[in-house]
Amino acid sequence: MGKNKRCEIWAIGGGKGGTGKSFITSSIGTYLATKGKQVVLVDADWGGANLHSFLGTNRPQNSLTDFFEKKVPLKELIVNCGISELGLIMGNLPSLDSGDIKYAQKIKFFNHIKKLDTHYILIDLGAGSHSNTMDTFLLADKMIVVIVPEITAIENMYHFIKNVFFRKLKTVLQAHGAKDSLQDAWKNREMHGIKTLKELITYLAGISPHIKDIIDKEMSDFRIHIILNQIKSSRDIAVGTSIKSVCNKFLGLHTLYAGYIEYDTCVTSCINKKQQYMLTYPFSHIAKSIGRLSDNLMEGKEVTVAKDECVPGRL
Ligand SMILES: Nc1ncnc2c1ncn2[C@@H]1O[C@H](COP(=O)(O)OP(=O)(O)O)[C@@H](O)[C@H]1O
Ligand SMILES: [Mg+2]
Repeated sequence: MGKNKRCEIWAIGGGKGGTGKSFITSSIGTYLATKGKQVVLVDADWGGANLHSFLGTNRPQNSLTDFFEKKVPLKELIVNCGISELGLIMGNLPSLDSGDIKYAQKIKFFNHIKKLDTHYILIDLGAGSHSNTMDTFLLADKMIVVIVPEITAIENMYHFIKNVFFRKLKTVLQAHGAKDSLQDAWKNREMHGIKTLKELITYLAGISPHIKDIIDKEMSDFRIHIILNQIKSSRDIAVGTSIKSVCNKFLGLHTLYAGYIEYDTCVTSCINKKQQYMLTYPFSHIAKSIGRLSDNLMEGKEVTVAKDECVPGRL
């Protein structure tokens, strides 16, 4: 890899547990590695790190705890996952999982992973909107959310995106000395008639041209990539498109529908047999879908949802 080209960091999050973040992180990683890209997967599910199980490897002995507490360089924590181009850094943080990792530590962690000599870093995040999770998500080059076509998962993802953008706004406005405007607007939201994040943004942008400029820049740079997992009928495919319009309508945020993945019981049986799905079933529907959506993510493209793909029951 060229000395001047820094690696690209993708973070995979999304609010709800069990949607398939770890499965998808491991599968995209395997796909990219089989295409000749160097990939390092980082298990940043601080409390419930289990990415190794999807890769058919044993739990690595060393983890990010060694980086945070013993200053072990990240590259010494990378373990190979059976394919030469694919490495894993284990996330288990026994002494840190219940608390906040200091912001400075997170920045240090990111500065270190950016320096790893690899093409891609894929970060697998835990569930929920903990500040550690949101900050890690926000510091990535590509923010990816995984959802399943179920109302609870969609709600959780919606809250996650809302919280993430609010946190981003807070950090940026604070850096520009305009933190009070946000706090005041949020505290007095009823008085100002603010019900949605979009209305909050409109209100803030009306305060001053300076704040408007900051917000406009942040919103145009803010891109969420959506992956819809575990679809059981072709009708489910359209859920991704609906989520896109809801995010735009109520949050005013731009999202890209990167792709969808079918439900397949072989996923669970692979994990239980300590096999890597992508290597065991390279010609399956899921493997093809993973390939398509990874290509879309690399190129910043979206899936094309053909009208006849939305016929109920056709999959
Ligand atoms: N496309 C899929 N088809 C069938 N099962 C899936 C699929 N994706 C994930 N799963 C199953 O769902 C469970 C949760 O997946 P996981 O990746 O651990 O979710 P998360 O990391 O979001 O908590 C796993 O047992 C996995 O086998
Ligand atoms: Mg997980």
